[in-house]
Amino acid sequence: MFTSFDNIGLIKVLNFLESHESEYLSGQDLSDILKISRVAVWKHIKKIRSLGYVIESKQKRGYKFVSATDKLLPWEISKNLETKFIGKRIYYFDEINSTQNFALELATKNNENGTVVIAEKQVDGRGRLKRKWYSPDGGLWFSIIIKPEFEISNATIIPLASSLALCLAIEKIHKIKVNVKWPNDITIDGKKVAGMLVDASIQANNIENFVLGVGINFKINTSQMEKNLKDGSNFYGVTSLFKIQDKVNKKKLFNQFLIELEYVLDNLTKRKKNEIIKKWSNRTDMFEKRVKINTNKGIISGHAKKIDDEGALIIKTKSGNERIFVGDVSLG
Ligand code: BTN
Repeated sequence: MFTSFDNIGLIKVLNFLESHESEYLSGQDLSDILKISRVAVWKHIKKIRSLGYVIESKQKRGYKFVSATDKLLPWEISKNLETKFIGKRIYYFDEINSTQNFALELATKNNENGTVVIAEKQVDGRGRLKRKWYSPDGGLWFSIIIKPEFEISNATIIPLASSLALCLAIEKIHKIKVNVKWPNDITIDGKKVAGMLVDASIQANNIENFVLGVGINFKINTSQMEKNLKDGSNFYGVTSLFKIQDKVNKKKLFNQFLIELEYVLDNLTKRKKNEIIKKWSNRTDMFEKRVKINTNKGIISGHAKKIDDEGALIIKTKSGNERIFVGDVSLG
C-alpha cells in the first residue's frame, strides 16, 4: 500500500530526477543534495522502477528520468489535484479485496473527509444489490469518503449527482458521449461502461458519511468481461472507454472526476438539487418509454415519467403512479 502522506524519501528522489529530466545525476550527487545515504538512493530508485517509471542508468554518469508510470499512485494524483478537499488523502493498492470495504472502515475515523481509496485491481469487488463487480487490471476502481454538509433529504440524489459528475468528466477529458441509466450506470451506445455504489451511514436523521464506490471500465478486455457477466441479472452489455492497446492514461479523467464531484456536491449543499435532476434527466432515454423495474418487491411495469425532487423514479402503471428508489431498469 502507498499513501499520500508517507514515502517521503522515495518522492524526494523521484521529484528530483523528474525535474532534471534531461540530465544524468549520480548516486553521490543525489545523496548529497537530498541528504539521504547512497544505499537509500539506490533502494528508492529500485522501488521507483518497480512501480513502472523508466529510469535510465549509465556507468559513471548516473540516473536519468525517462518516463512516468501509468499507475494512479498518490503523489501522481496530488501533483495535479485542483480540488478543495476530495483526494487530499489517498490510499493506493496494487491489489485489494474491495476499495469500498477498506473505505467503509476508514470512514469510522475522524479526519477522512474526502479520502480516496484506489486500487489497480480488486479481487472481491462489490456491485449494487449485492452483486459481484469484476475489477481486473486496466480499470479505474476507487471509493471516496464524504462527510456531507447537506441535509439528509438530499441522500437519494447522491447517486444521480455522482453519475452526472462522471459523465461530465468523461466528456470533458475524452470527448466521448455518454448517457445514464437509472439510478447510476453510465453507458455508451446502450452498454455499461461504469457503475457506482453508495453506502451511507445515517444516524439520528443525519448523514454521518457516505462512501461512493466508482468502477470505470477504462481499458478492459470486454469479451473476457462479457463471459464473466452475461449470465448475471441486470446484464445488458458491457463496454470499455478504451481498448487495451490504446495509449491513454487514467490520471486526467480521475482528477477531473474529483473536480466535478466536488462541484455537484457543493450544489447539493447550496440546495440546487433540481439543477442536478434536470441535467441527469437530459442524459437518459427512458422517459415516456415502457420500462420494467426489478425491485425488491418484484417487477413493476409501466411508463417512465420522470425523476422527482427526491430522486425517485416515477412510473405510471395500470394502477397509478409508483415511486421507486431502488431497483434495476430495463426498456420494454
Ligand atoms: C454497480 O454498478 O453495480 C456498482 C459498481 C461499483 C464498483 C466499484 S469499484 C470500486 C468500489 N469497490 C467496490 O468493491 N465496488 C466499487
